[in-house]
Amino acid sequence: MSDPRPIGVLDSGTGGLTVVREIVRLMPGERLIYAGDTARFPYGNRPEETIRSFALQGAETLFGRDIKLLVVACNTISAVALEAIERYARDVPVIGAVLPGARAAVLRTADRKIGVIGTHATIRSGAYKKAIERIDSAAKVYETATPFLIPLVEEMMFDHDITRLTVQFYLYEMIDLGVDCLILGCTHYPPLLEVVQGTVGTRMQIIDSALWTAKEVQDILTALDLCSEPEGGGLGQSAFFFTETPLHTAGQLPLFFGEALPHQKSISFAGGAKQ
Ligand code: DGL
Repeated sequence: MSDPRPIGVLDSGTGGLTVVREIVRLMPGERLIYAGDTARFPYGNRPEETIRSFALQGAETLFGRDIKLLVVACNTISAVALEAIERYARDVPVIGAVLPGARAAVLRTADRKIGVIGTHATIRSGAYKKAIERIDSAAKVYETATPFLIPLVEEMMFDHDITRLTVQFYLYEMIDLGVDCLILGCTHYPPLLEVVQGTVGTRMQIIDSALWTAKEVQDILTALDLCSEPEGGGLGQSAFFFTETPLHTAGQLPLFFGEALPHQKSISFAGGAKQ
């Protein structure tokens, strides 16, 4: 049986497009409805109650569009608001961005020393540490908030000395501690994969949470028999909603996504779900 309904994708802005890119690569038949709260971006410096309230508003706009699954393509929302969204979702499956990356890291680390970088809210929540320790209680988890990487990505400074210095500044301690597996716990970070790998060296494996989140979407759709037909989906059939069009969107979105983004529309999260 196939299910032609779209997958909902929730994000605080545009970083979740790195998850979309992986979903489209893995499952080209799927249609997507993306909602990014660009008007209130970033979420990662905000208090938990605010993130939860914004996230529920966004989730409500997507649940109202007959989605078959919701993927929270934002580590900050996943770390802070996943349970609240799941309670609200009732029978729609919800996939967050934290657990897939945590699982992948536990499988890959040889020395059981895992590093996590993300926003202040993601790191403060301890969501990765809890998820990893639940899978392997002997694993050591080292977490660092690396918020300054987000504006560098937004400015598309992927291959720049300032970015290299910033990555070194944030990661030298993890390198010293012998971390052998690093989770990029923010959907903005995949464009920095090369500069991070160049800084930490090949001994440290890097886990891209966007990629593992997309793989989880594929696994769950397959297990629940909710996949679409292989044709009829993809970018051309998908819709991308933003609460505001940022000034730099035109240049930035294709870079995040690898190609121009079709069907961009505006949406309001206002009047959405309350906690
Ligand atoms: N997309 C967010 C994440 O993955 C980062 C941006 C924000 O702070 O809203 O954590």
